Amino acid sequence: MQCPEPNETDRMRSEIERLRIKAEREESDRAWLDSVIEASPAGMIVVDGSGQMLRVNGRVEQLFGYSREELAGKSVDMLLPASARRQHLAERAGYMAEPTARPMGAGRDLYGVRKDGTQIRVEIGLSPLLAGGQTLVIASIIDISERVRAEEERGRLTEELRAAIGARDDFLAIASHELRTPLAALALQLASLQRAVRGLGAETKVVGWADKAVRNAGRLARLIDDLLDVSRIQAGKLQLHLEELDLADLVREVADRMAEEARLAGCALVVHLATGATERWDKLRVEQVLANLISNAIKYGAGKPIEVRTAVTADGARITVRDQGIGIGRDDLTRIFGRFERASAARTFRGLGLGLYITREIVEAHGGRIAAESAPGEGATFTVELPRRPPQT
Ligand SMILES: Nc1ncnc2c1ncn2[C@@H]1O[C@H](COP(=O)(O)OP(=O)(O)O)[C@@H](O)[C@H]1O
Ligand SMILES: [Mg+2]
Repeated sequence: MQCPEPNETDRMRSEIERLRIKAEREESDRAWLDSVIEASPAGMIVVDGSGQMLRVNGRVEQLFGYSREELAGKSVDMLLPASARRQHLAERAGYMAEPTARPMGAGRDLYGVRKDGTQIRVEIGLSPLLAGGQTLVIASIIDISERVRAEEERGRLTEELRAAIGARDDFLAIASHELRTPLAALALQLASLQRAVRGLGAETKVVGWADKAVRNAGRLARLIDDLLDVSRIQAGKLQLHLEELDLADLVREVADRMAEEARLAGCALVVHLATGATERWDKLRVEQVLANLISNAIKYGAGKPIEVRTAVTADGARITVRDQGIGIGRDDLTRIFGRFERASAARTFRGLGLGLYITREIVEAHGGRIAAESAPGEGATFTVELPRRPPQT
């Protein structure tokens, strides 16, 4: 028997050493891979080409309620609803023929079945893995049942909210419309009563009551008209009736009509009117814009003078209404043009917070813009730009 040459022995030794290191490295690789799989927040299942589960992590045990011993070596089919198994089989064959990475959530709506028979909604990503000459697949699984439930709940709430808003808008439209008719009759009757009372030479106190009743009926009618307008705007039914009008005439008319109200509040109403602002606008609606802005100036104007100005501009006209009253804080300057938005103490100043909303809608329906400039205690200036309309509209 021949002993191996000394250098032969050395070669065998170093070969054994190499194999030992390789085995050690493989062992450490496997341990590392194991800890990565275990640490994953997603459920991880390693399956072979026939769908047999070779390895699962702790998250899978939690998701499906089985221990890993119960799963090892079994077909992954046991985690699928019976109805999905046939399709899964076909898909698996297709996938194994051409295994590629498939991102989470790329599939259809997927369900998993827990040990207790309940179903969970899952999202699955697949990654092929070449190991020991065969193709394995790592399936990463997350439970999206909560997310799906939350999405469905959100959808349901949105639907309910939409229905509630629809019901509210319908109510607003019907109620304001129904209130309008008896109120118009009441206003007429009160006006007749007022005339009669005056004609009879009744006591001053009684005449005062009649006057107040007429004023209150007017105030009520304006509030209801505002509600009607809001429901028209909401329904997209704010229609303009355009006609040639002279803005200066219109401002003068409105200012005259409101002079008494301004006088009662101690405000001098000063107008500066430019000639030549004659365009096709909606007379009643522009009148409403002026009345809203002037009545706000009177209401919030602290008894100081109010200035209403018109000017002809390059593409139409500008109206400014300026007061020297309580003013508006910076944060409220745009908010006040919203529906039911108010910036002042409800107890001191009454109102629904609709005037500026309707005003803005009217101005914008004319293709114009409205803006407010103010600071608390320094009065407010509202500027309306009304563009010229093409003759055919
Ligand atoms: N000229 C003004 N001066 C100060 N604050 C104003 C003025 N005009 C409007 N505001 C503020 O804007 C809010 C919205 O106005 P508006 O829509 O006309 O509602 P309302 O007059 O019913 O309160 C008011 O509640 C008030 O706080
Ligand atoms: Mg108002």
